[in-house]
Amino acid sequence: MPRVRYLREGLAVEVPVGATLLEASRAAGAPHGSHCGGVCGCSTCHVYVRAGAALLSAMERDEDSLLGGAIDREGSSRLGCQAIIEADGEVALEISDESFETYLDEHEADAERVLALRGLR
Ligand code: FES
Repeated sequence: MPRVRYLREGLAVEVPVGATLLEASRAAGAPHGSHCGGVCGCSTCHVYVRAGAALLSAMERDEDSLLGGAIDREGSSRLGCQAIIEADGEVALEISDESFETYLDEHEADAERVLALRGLR
């Protein structure tokens, strides 16, 4: 099964082919924000794919357009709800600060745990 590693939180999870990066994050307990709920309606699920980008679905025009409004977009940027893992292997990613902050805003009860994961507490 494909494996997703979270470089800033030290987490990892195995998910089936066909899962999105956001679904992997939910399975891993990673602090990955998703204000619109994963329907390509915001940019708060923005991540940087540091390894394994070739395992992911190609970027569609809607994703590219929304990423245009994301904070600190890079060449490795993807929207976690739109990037589908299409092949076995390992994907390493960093959750953007914007996405992390969105997660914190939406999951106050989980704040201590995820701040500690990032070494912020
Ligand atoms: S969660 Fe809104 S675009 Fe991904």
